[in-house]
Amino acid sequence: MLTGGGDCPGLNAVIRAVVRKGIDEFGDQIVGFRDGWRGVLEDVQDELTIESTRGILPRGGTILGSSRTNPSKREDGVELVRTTLERHRLDGLIAIGGEDTLGAANRLNEAGISVIGVPKTIDNDLGATDQTFGFDTALQVASEAIDRLHTTAESHHRILVVEVMGRNAGWIALHSGIAGGADVILIPEIPFDIDEVCRLIGRRHGRGRYFSIVVVAEGAMPKEGTMKVSIGELDEFGHPRLGGIGQVLEREIEARTGFETRATVLGHVQRGGTPTAFDRVLATRLGLAAIDAAHAGRWGMMTALHATEIELVSLADAVAEVRRVPVAEYERYGVLFG
Ligand code: F6P
Repeated sequence: MLTGGGDCPGLNAVIRAVVRKGIDEFGDQIVGFRDGWRGVLEDVQDELTIESTRGILPRGGTILGSSRTNPSKREDGVELVRTTLERHRLDGLIAIGGEDTLGAANRLNEAGISVIGVPKTIDNDLGATDQTFGFDTALQVASEAIDRLHTTAESHHRILVVEVMGRNAGWIALHSGIAGGADVILIPEIPFDIDEVCRLIGRRHGRGRYFSIVVVAEGAMPKEGTMKVSIGELDEFGHPRLGGIGQVLEREIEARTGFETRATVLGHVQRGGTPTAFDRVLATRLGLAAIDAAHAGRWGMMTALHATEIELVSLADAVAEVRRVPVAEYERYGVLFG
């Protein structure tokens, strides 16, 4: 088993469920690779036992460690993975990750390596599952932060810009913004118009509300040619390091409206700490289904939440497309902005 990509609350609940059921019901021996695909490539692992996984259910992060190592980046990546599995006489791998980790799992599966995927990401942007664990916890953290920022924004008659995570999809921004009563919500799916942002804030002032909350996803971009933003360095999966749109908005909004503006970047606070009860239960269900799938020989599949049931979908379908916020869904909330 391995955990790859950005960590997220609930990973330990999956690990615990796989180990408990694997050992107690199936008599398995289970190893955990350190730091995602890096541990498989370099063969760094520990045996996981019921004893060694005791007490981890409420713990955030992952006891296995994680990394953004991409096995496809190495010419000998597939062979190294195969050699490691053969050396330890493993039947297959359970890879817990988001689009990158599962994309790598899918390529390995196509190369004949037995893999089962378990979806995780606070971004909630995986196509083939209704929800990923980690999202509920991130949402809780972000909406609580918005509530806190509300009171200080009101006291100081300020505009507070809150930057939340979400590289390609604005689920955290949209849902935390709606839950927290934000006045403007900006998401990666819809390039924003800074004039419209300032108009909404100005309209509130016109109605006697001298403070506003703007929630922006880190991947949100202005309409082409309207504002300058910079893109950070790329990781092994080709994703830029984001962060900074909050500060850009702080400067622009203050310059254009004359209202005092401050930015808060929530960053990794959203990914840390104990998972919500919802995420613990979802992660546990996905873990139990993953070890069942391994014993049923359903390699190349991913466990997924469909309505209230856990089902299997092919890894290829799971990574085919990112689940973005539909424009119509965003627009439905338009009446609440400004
Ligand atoms: O795992 C998803 C995510 O939390 C994104 O929301 C964010 O863009 C990215 O990870 C940040 O990655 P890192 O922690 O590697 O900077």
